[in-house]
Amino acid sequence: MSPIGTADWVMERCDDLTRHSSRPDALERVYLSPEHSAANMAVRAWMLDAGLDTETDAAGNLWGRRAADGTPQRPGTAGEPALVLGSHLDTVPDAGRYDGMLGVVLAIAVAHRLRDVPLPFALEVVGFSDEEGTRFGKALLGSCAASGQWDPAWWDQADADGVTLREAFLQFGLAPDRVGDAARRPEDLVGYLEAHIEQGPVLESANLPLGYVTSIAGARRFVLTITGEARHAGGTPFSRRRDALVAAAHLVTRIEELAKATDCLATVGDIRVEPGAVNVIPGLAELTLDLRGRTDNGRDALWDEISAAGHDIAQERGVKLEVVETHRAPSTACAERMQAAVAAGIAEATRSTGVAAPSATSAAGVAAPSGSVLGLWSPAGHDGMAMDAVTDVGMLFLRCRDGISHHPDEHVEAEDVAIALDAFTEAVLALARDHEEAR
Ligand code: GLV
Ligand code: MN
Ligand code: MN
Repeated sequence: MSPIGTADWVMERCDDLTRHSSRPDALERVYLSPEHSAANMAVRAWMLDAGLDTETDAAGNLWGRRAADGTPQRPGTAGEPALVLGSHLDTVPDAGRYDGMLGVVLAIAVAHRLRDVPLPFALEVVGFSDEEGTRFGKALLGSCAASGQWDPAWWDQADADGVTLREAFLQFGLAPDRVGDAARRPEDLVGYLEAHIEQGPVLESANLPLGYVTSIAGARRFVLTITGEARHAGGTPFSRRRDALVAAAHLVTRIEELAKATDCLATVGDIRVEPGAVNVIPGLAELTLDLRGRTDNGRDALWDEISAAGHDIAQERGVKLEVVETHRAPSTACAERMQAAVAAGIAEATRSTGVAAPSATSAAGVAAPSGSVLGLWSPAGHDGMAMDAVTDVGMLFLRCRDGISHHPDEHVEAEDVAIALDAFTEAVLALARDHEEAR
């Protein structure tokens, strides 16, 4: 094993976490699963090695903490307000090994680097338990609990096997009626800082290892259920059909057309058909829809158009459309002071490693550069969207190969991780200086 705190150590630990998967041939680790528990155990040991005391909260999030003077301290105990570093430990199906996990492991490495450095605040690392929403459709469950935004309406949401969130809590050994205990108070927090792969092509196109995030897109997710009539594929002429899948197909292409006319993104990621037989006209099609927009207004306007189009298609084709919204998160601006700290960290790290600064920025979605450092907004969702309710949020993005993510080919270079470790450490120190000055 490489020495803790190094880029190679971070890469190896991301490799290690692929063992905790529900599938032998692919990485999948969802909320409140046995793999979630095993991953928490592994990460807990690394947190202890880094000089943090640990605790799993009432929603299955894993926390590590040291006091301002560097001594390990039990998370949840009274003490100085904390700067929280971290990301999530859950995955999408057939996932890559860096989305989320890299941010947790990198945060532990930074905590280790700073273990003998007194800070003006406590330092915590969190491994959030659910960011992706893979199991229950609702994303950010872990960080919603930590930010006091748990909605009791979620308890009856069920996974693909019909297990409700409440039942899954009990199976994991958590008490549903204690979920409120996971909520952090704003006065106990200094900020939330997350490192994450970019999951897009901007940094790679700009030939840069790192960027700071200016804002995170607002998201909404829906389940669209189209009900027609299942009938004989041979005996039913086209004039008598109410084919739910054909209606769904029209809707899917219309969704793409409508979204392309905006600066938002819309994705139908899953379709389930009933009864699902070669010689039966589909009587039911259930679609998932994921919407993202740089502004909530733009995203909501697109949804209104999609909804109207869906009802028109349903009427034309004699089927019924029902809509359930499973997730909604507002677009989130990273706090100016957090952006500045991350940008300063990148400037410091890239200066010392001699990485070329960008000359100009023109790619879509790239904010005005601050000095020689690139700022960009995130169309992908992150735990900061929830944590913003209780504290200031900042993010560091790392270049990922070909911009690919939510795919096993997800890749980040160890050289970029090495620079990110320096930048993230410097960002913490920049926030420490600000904090001292403000006192
Ligand atoms: C999470 O990765 C999301 O953006 O859906
Ligand atoms: Mn993801
Ligand atoms: Mn992620």
